[in-house]
Amino acid sequence: MKGIILAGGHGNRLKPLTEVTNKHLLPVYNKPMIFYPLNTLIGAGIRDILIVTGSEYAGGFLKLLGSGRDYGCRFTFEVQEEALGIAHALSLAEDFVDKDYMAVMLGDNILEDQVASTMAAFHGGAHIFLKEIQDAQRFGVAEIEDGVVTRILEKPKNPPTNLAVTGLYLYDNEIFDIVRNLTPSARGEFEITDVNNVYIERGRMSYTTLNGAWTDAGTFESLHRANQVARSLVRAGLRTPFEDSIKRRSQRNLKRTPAAGQSLPQRIRS
Ligand code: G1P
Repeated sequence: MKGIILAGGHGNRLKPLTEVTNKHLLPVYNKPMIFYPLNTLIGAGIRDILIVTGSEYAGGFLKLLGSGRDYGCRFTFEVQEEALGIAHALSLAEDFVDKDYMAVMLGDNILEDQVASTMAAFHGGAHIFLKEIQDAQRFGVAEIEDGVVTRILEKPKNPPTNLAVTGLYLYDNEIFDIVRNLTPSARGEFEITDVNNVYIERGRMSYTTLNGAWTDAGTFESLHRANQVARSLVRAGLRTPFEDSIKRRSQRNLKRTPAAGQSLPQRIRS
């Protein structure tokens, strides 16, 4: 299974925080936001990960993440020239995914659950992860009948259930044909919810309900909540091999700075 992290967009709801950087590079408790979805994918055993981002701050992601060697995986970077929505960003992943299955995660989602077994059991179609919450109208909302998802509504005023569609999705490569036939929504974007509704119509959608904490981080309120969730996860001692790799990479980068006490000419020479 390939991994894809979507880290594009203008982060309009977080201005001025996103005036000079990409939303997914902003701090969430003790690390940049993108490390959380990376932790979820790497924790699930995915080693080949595509990061899709806008052209403006793509260099920041390269500098932060490198090749992936430090995390025992391989990162590939793809530039989304225009912010035309999640489904559009995914269309850029076609060559990377080829015939494989893919786990797609939105770069501003933070998730506590371990999802390795769900990913291992995935055998085509699409799979979404739902979370029961209070303010479901801010998200895609799933309608369920007899244990089957019958429809997803994008940010409905009166949500039929309190089951939010989180930003983690599993797909087979049929998705690329589906995206090719989409039309933009009222907000001018190619919506992931429209993709999911096609899978539902074809009877190829399954779902899991998450038990642990989940939040997005795209507004001031949810970014604040994301910091609280991340802090409680870290303080609860939820350490992963990935967390240790982040530390090692930072320590190695530290060693590259000159020792204190060196005079300026010495610093320039070293
Ligand atoms: C997107 C999706 C929405 C989903 C949410 C999860 O919304 O369109 O269906 O529930 O991500 O974070 P956005 O926050 O990008 O508007």
